[in-house]
Amino acid sequence: MKTTFANPPAATHALRCVHCGALSAKPEPRFRCSECSELLEVIYPEWTGAPREFGLRLKETWQARKDSSLGENSSGVWRFRELLPQIERSNIVTLGEGNTPLLPIEKTCRFLRLGSLLAKHQGMNPTGSFKDTGISVAISMAKTTGFKCVCCASTGNTSASVAAFAARTGMKSIVLLPAGQVASGKLAQALEYGAHVLELRTDFDGCLSVLNQVVERLPAYLLNSVNPYRLEGQKTVAFELMEQLDWRAPDHVIVPGGNLANSSALGKGFLELRQLGLIADLPKISIIQAEGANPLVRTMRENGGRELIRVTPQTRATAIRIGNPASWRKAVAVLKETEGACEDVSEEEIFLAKAELGAEGAGCEPASAATLAGLKKLARSGFVREGETVVLVLTGHMLKDVEYTLQPRAERTSDVLEPDVSAVIRRLEQIDACK
Ligand code: F0G
Repeated sequence: MKTTFANPPAATHALRCVHCGALSAKPEPRFRCSECSELLEVIYPEWTGAPREFGLRLKETWQARKDSSLGENSSGVWRFRELLPQIERSNIVTLGEGNTPLLPIEKTCRFLRLGSLLAKHQGMNPTGSFKDTGISVAISMAKTTGFKCVCCASTGNTSASVAAFAARTGMKSIVLLPAGQVASGKLAQALEYGAHVLELRTDFDGCLSVLNQVVERLPAYLLNSVNPYRLEGQKTVAFELMEQLDWRAPDHVIVPGGNLANSSALGKGFLELRQLGLIADLPKISIIQAEGANPLVRTMRENGGRELIRVTPQTRATAIRIGNPASWRKAVAVLKETEGACEDVSEEEIFLAKAELGAEGAGCEPASAATLAGLKKLARSGFVREGETVVLVLTGHMLKDVEYTLQPRAERTSDVLEPDVSAVIRRLEQIDACK
């Protein structure tokens, strides 16, 4: 007989500094520790020593919610709300985020002789990137706290997501973007959803530094990933992935690294699942950066993760064009705890990997393709071995950055022909299109 349980209770949370461990009762506007200015993380003290039954009940509860049509149950974030900060139902802002597909990447899997290669396509979120999972939680917290205006600095995707969720709940949004460095799909989204868009003549790091001062002076709630509630939403990708893999962790999860919050959130999700007894093993979480924007790679190589080495970022994968990543300490901890690797890949490697994913119907934006480029490097070095299971986290939708694909390059240009059947057939025969 199937045993049914009452829903497990949601736990209360606290904010703790990742560096000095001080607890923050009320976070300041920049979400920094009042003692040492480092970042904060959400902790759930009640979980310590939680009975094993707690974990088992969670699986049942989450599974049952899949059949429910209530907004907070069909959301791939709020379905896992026992492991999120408690928020009243009326303050939950959702666009039906999460619930993204896990796609087999078969040709590359065979080529690399892996046991399986899967892409968790976070670009299938409502605004086309993984940001939606985190913004849903953090903006719900903003609403709970009584804010009417939210803000972010962004390489593009965060701004699209912030603008959409703000519009959804009737809040104002302000976004600061590095002028001329944001893919047009992302800029168009921020404008469509009615954000106040300010483009600054600087890079992402410069925009975030300005915004940190703005939130000290204006009543706007900061939605960048320094906000620890963002990571709570983003960690749910680990929960959803484990459900999809029947609670058996893959050997490797590979994620691109920019400001380094997503890798941190993913790691937090897996560590919590293990703490609660929902999974037995952790995957190795590896972080891939572009060669021209590789502060974490240099930090790990040159001082083992003790002190951040900043760089002046340059890459056509504009989403991860970041030289001074805020969440570097959290990411170093995840690399160490999961024994993951940190690698950088060239522009050419990103370009080819993106085309390869596209050719398997798993198109994504350039930053996301860095994961496949990184996997190839890790397989060559022997870090990823034959027969292993690998999950790539594809962070953004292909349509976010169409300029990248349409750039003039011999092998990727489309043909412009007269609307004449014979001309079309001749051209298709020339390129053996149907073979
Ligand atoms: N992939 C995509 C598509 C992104 O948009 C980002 C970050 C990342 C990867 C890196 O994630 O910063 O958590 O390490 N985009 C941010 C933005 C910075 O403003 O949209 P991260």
